[in-house]
Amino acid sequence: MEKILVTGASGMVGTALKEAIPNAIFVNSKMCDLRDKESTERLFYNKRPDKVIHLAAKVGGIKANSENLGAFFYDNITMNTNVLEASRKYSVKKVLSLLSTCIYPDKSTYPLTEEQIHNGLPHSSNYAYAHAKRMLDIHSQAYRDQYGCNFITVVPNNLFGENDNFHLENSHLIPAIIRKVFEAKENNSDIVLWGDGTPLREFTYSKDLAKIILLLLNEYDERAPINVGNTHEYTIKEVAETIMKIMKYEGKIIWDESKPKGQFRKPSDNSKLLNLGWNKKDYTPFETAILNTCEWFTKNYPNVRGIT
Ligand SMILES: NC(=O)c1ccc[n+]([C@@H]2O[C@H](COP(=O)([O-])OP(=O)(O)OC[C@H]3O[C@@H](n4cnc5c(N)ncnc54)[C@H](OP(=O)(O)O)[C@@H]3O)[C@@H](O)[C@H]2O)c1
Repeated sequence: MEKILVTGASGMVGTALKEAIPNAIFVNSKMCDLRDKESTERLFYNKRPDKVIHLAAKVGGIKANSENLGAFFYDNITMNTNVLEASRKYSVKKVLSLLSTCIYPDKSTYPLTEEQIHNGLPHSSNYAYAHAKRMLDIHSQAYRDQYGCNFITVVPNNLFGENDNFHLENSHLIPAIIRKVFEAKENNSDIVLWGDGTPLREFTYSKDLAKIILLLLNEYDERAPINVGNTHEYTIKEVAETIMKIMKYEGKIIWDESKPKGQFRKPSDNSKLLNLGWNKKDYTPFETAILNTCEWFTKNYPNVRGIT
């Protein structure tokens, strides 16, 4: 049987993949710190995977990214370099690594198409994370060109789902809003959100991404990255109101306009994925995915990542 090794197993996407491919080898940072070259090579020597799904990354929202530029760069570039080099050395047949739409140039033509990734500087708030991720794409292409490695890169947009990080400072938009709404409901208070609620964002449910990853592991072997996110856009206000409705919260949102609101919109083009057989209808409806995530959070609170 084909041996698939998954890095970043304890993360949100990693846990979604555990349901989809329970027999894979799942690795988290306690089992192997991928910043350490020797430990990474030992892992590959011992496990000898046929395929690798590389999810491990230092990930965070706008605040964590902008306050930890050096750490985000170092951790990500080191992990990615070690994983790709060990995969080459131990003749892994295919590596699928995740990028992110936040690595696209700040000034792009919309919708974001894959060939624009390296065409200009990323947004200043996350330039270090973005450059480290871009190098993951360059590294994959260089190993393909020199050594014939089948290393592919996959570009999701904003992700959310069960087992996300719900830390108030280090998390992404949806988990932060879910936690704020839940705690405001408990305390009978209002919630404060950054910006003015007008920017538009696209979101993909982690369980949908897990299915897409498996599709691409079998069906996509090209050197160019591939966008895979659900391309429906929602305003931040719509996202907050959906969560508030699902959590039956009747307090107010106070918009803190002194805080950065990020790029106004960054719609992506997922037509390459749709041409491979994934259908728009295969994405879980946004409200259903939000409902699942809110229910999971409520059931597990406070024993969720970022709180305990
Ligand atoms: N979340 C998003 O909105 C989003 C959007 C686009 C792309 N992505 C990409 O999707 C992938 C998965 O994201 P996610 O949201 O699932 O991330 P996550 O929940 O933060 O999980 C990150 C994973 O990386 C592991 N990791 C971190 N540092 C490590 C190290 N030094 N050595 C070994 N493992 C380490 C963590 O292990 P421990 O738990 O053991 O520390 C964890 O399993 C990432 O590559 C990310 O860049 C995410």
